[in-house]
Amino acid sequence: MKKLEEIILSHGEVYGKDILKVDSFLNHQIKPKLIQEMAEEFADHFKDKNITKILTVESSGIAPALLTGLKLGCDVVFARKQKSLTTDDNTYSSTCYSYTKEEMKRLMVSKNFLSEEDNVLLIDDFLANGQAAKAMVAICKQAGANVCGIGIVIEKSYQDGRALLDDMGIDVYSLARISHMDGKEIDFID
Ligand code: G4P
Ligand code: NA
Ligand code: NA
Repeated sequence: MKKLEEIILSHGEVYGKDILKVDSFLNHQIKPKLIQEMAEEFADHFKDKNITKILTVESSGIAPALLTGLKLGCDVVFARKQKSLTTDDNTYSSTCYSYTKEEMKRLMVSKNFLSEEDNVLLIDDFLANGQAAKAMVAICKQAGANVCGIGIVIEKSYQDGRALLDDMGIDVYSLARISHMDGKEIDFID
């Protein structure tokens, strides 16, 4: 998505090789019109997959997931993050390790909102090491739901997540794919 790449170049701040700060349109302030255009791209790519539910992770995945759900006409569920690692009988849950935050977290989804009838589209703002994505896949598996693919706003292709999801046979559709970042430079894969 050309427009997203341009906004990343003009508004993104790079910290070292790994962290891209995009607080002005995605992670803190949110630009609705831009998110709507992202949602149109996701909806167009996945429109023939009979998506019945979108699953994302709070908090930054919710905006793109919501507008994609509006476009595809399905409900949106966000996995909640819990600090406590205790389980609850009425939830599906999976733990993952956050490399950026250096902590374990548990993602959980109520059993009321995901079932074996569902064709699920996963959405997230960033794909880095893929641990959040992997946890969402695990949650879908517990529910017996079918994972139809994953829509990512910004993929850092040089980190492990993309290859991990490719190896799982998942259709990964990323709107911007960063091949390299360093200081002021950001390179994209076409
Ligand atoms: P992973 O899921 O791909 O393994 O990534 P990781 O644990 O490293 O990411 C932890 C959090 O940091 C996630 O958000 C993820 O979206 C975000 N993240 C990863 N790389 C970047 C980056 O380069 N820039 C920015 N801005 N975020 C990045 P989160 O902690 O779950 O927070 P939020 O959804 O509430 O914003
Ligand atoms: Na984030
Ligand atoms: Na996120």
